[in-house]
Amino acid sequence: MSVDNISFMKELFQKKVEILYHTKAGSGYFKIGLAFPELARISRPGQFVMVRLPDRYIPLLRRPFSVHNRLVEGDAINGIELLYKVVGETTQAMSELKAGDLLDVLGPLGNGFTFPEGIQNVFLVAGGVGVASLYYLALDLAERRAVRPTVFLGGCSATDILCRKGFESIGSRVQITTEDCSLGEKGVVTSLVQKALEVDGKPQMIYACGPTGMLKAVSDLARTYDVSCQISLETVMACGFGVCLGCVVEKTGSPGAYLHACTDGPVFDYRAIRI
Ligand SMILES: Cc1cc2nc3c(=O)[nH]c(=O)nc-3n(C[C@H](O)[C@H](O)[C@H](O)COP(=O)(O)OP(=O)(O)OC[C@H]3O[C@@H](n4cnc5c(N)ncnc54)[C@H](O)[C@@H]3O)c2cc1C
Ligand code: FES
Repeated sequence: MSVDNISFMKELFQKKVEILYHTKAGSGYFKIGLAFPELARISRPGQFVMVRLPDRYIPLLRRPFSVHNRLVEGDAINGIELLYKVVGETTQAMSELKAGDLLDVLGPLGNGFTFPEGIQNVFLVAGGVGVASLYYLALDLAERRAVRPTVFLGGCSATDILCRKGFESIGSRVQITTEDCSLGEKGVVTSLVQKALEVDGKPQMIYACGPTGMLKAVSDLARTYDVSCQISLETVMACGFGVCLGCVVEKTGSPGAYLHACTDGPVFDYRAIRI
């Protein structure tokens, strides 16, 4: 199915958009600002876009990236920002683009995080570049609901710890772990989350995004401490809109039943899927 044939989806845009800026965000990480106001106006934290380099057939398939922020100037919403890590062919080619170049963007896609009314006490748990979507969530919670989440950032090394100042500037307390002990405590991020659950008590919701192993560990903590928890998957995706079946995840409690990470997710209640 081509992009032209997915007009059944409401509020979905596909366009070659101008790159407004493109800056390094640390070793191997970049932030890219895209002029896409119509998409920015309706995107929610946890949603993503599928990106392709225009006029190239390799890589053929689009790649998914979370909306990291909206570009706002006064009352005007001008576009979106992505935060990405260079890991392979597409991200390497993206990293060579400059302001004024074009990127082919489709979105917004996916369900996004949900936020039950009245909750105040929230944990955000990010592994590496999983912070991309959680940062947008934190900004939204601070701006629209006056909620300042407690943030847990984990990475292999200090260079994988991103957005710390941004979280602190909205009043969030940030706790950090690195596996090589180059920043914060040595170890994995879930050990700090467990400590906080023991010492500070339970939050009303945990939101987590990162590698599958981390999401499993966060889900185990949610189960053990009986805390509501939403996890955002970084599953490999080929189409992003429910057609290729490349992103299926097993549904719990229904043997043989599957959900699509792209259309039913990427955000799931941890109890809904087996990862
Ligand atoms: C909903 C969603 C949101 C995402 N948001 C972001 C984001 O905001 N920022 C960001 O940097 N990345 C994000 N990702 C991951 C991103 O899509 C991949 O890093 C990207 O597709 C890699 O493309 P590539 O062509 O550069 O690498 P490839 O050449 O396709 O792959 C290079 C290597 O990375 C591995 N790889 C590729 N995709 C993934 C993945 N999803 N998880 C683990 N390993 C992978 C491959 O197995 C391979 O070893 C997101 C993924 C999903 C599903
Ligand atoms: S990525 Fe194609 S069905 Fe989900």
